[in-house]
Amino acid sequence: MIIIKNSVELAAMRRVNQMTARVRDQLAAMIRPGITTLDLGNAAFELIRSMGGTSAFYGYHGYPGQICVSVNEEVVHGIPGRRVIKDGDIVSIDTGISFEGFVGDTAVTVAAGEIDAERKRLLEVTQAALEAGIAKAIAGNRLGDISHAIQTVVEAAGFSVVREFVGHGIGRDMHEDPQVPNFGKPGRGPKLKPGMTLAIEPMVNIGGPQVEVLDDNWTAVTKDGHPSAHFEHTVAVGIMEPEILTLA
Ligand code: MF3
Ligand code: CO
Ligand code: CO
Repeated sequence: MIIIKNSVELAAMRRVNQMTARVRDQLAAMIRPGITTLDLGNAAFELIRSMGGTSAFYGYHGYPGQICVSVNEEVVHGIPGRRVIKDGDIVSIDTGISFEGFVGDTAVTVAAGEIDAERKRLLEVTQAALEAGIAKAIAGNRLGDISHAIQTVVEAAGFSVVREFVGHGIGRDMHEDPQVPNFGKPGRGPKLKPGMTLAIEPMVNIGGPQVEVLDDNWTAVTKDGHPSAHFEHTVAVGIMEPEILTLA
């Protein structure tokens, strides 16, 4: 069942998602060669606490981190730890915050130092795919319109869409109905209505779409070891245009 948010609930979603966007951007600004993924996790803990929120990830199905930090071939759900970020890496930060009973969720992938041309294109294409998906988050469209728009941008660029992980409804819970795949057919799926809030989050691989989960039971990596990128915004379905709740 897809939960429609009323104006009071939407106001709370705006507040928590704005907080989440601020933390995302402050963490992204820290990324440079030499820091560890745990440095980012520790900074996230302090930033989130200073704003009066809590991590929406910590303890979720036993997840042990404050945020997810996924480097290069890591697709999603990298646990902050000893990994040292090097020049030329791409680093995805996924931040989730709980505040006033609602959840914000957003991710960005950024370059550490100088990255090669193909990685640059991966970041541009993944962000463009997210924007194309968001543009379809308008009342009267169908969920498949979002999915198809994302897939079209990714595959036109010669990259591949990860299938095992998808976007999602979000509100009082981080993961609500519906699932929002990054692939699909236009005109299919539930009709979008004002007050639906969705986390749209393409995960895009330079190589093949296959992923596997490491022995830590969380970190998803590409099977072929090629890099992957992840961008995510939480949006509210609008009448005339989508409202991006996690815009900076
Ligand atoms: N934020 C992720 C998502 O975009 C989920 C993180 S799972 C957790 O859906 F276990 F790390 F919380
Ligand atoms: Co997320
Ligand atoms: Co999400």
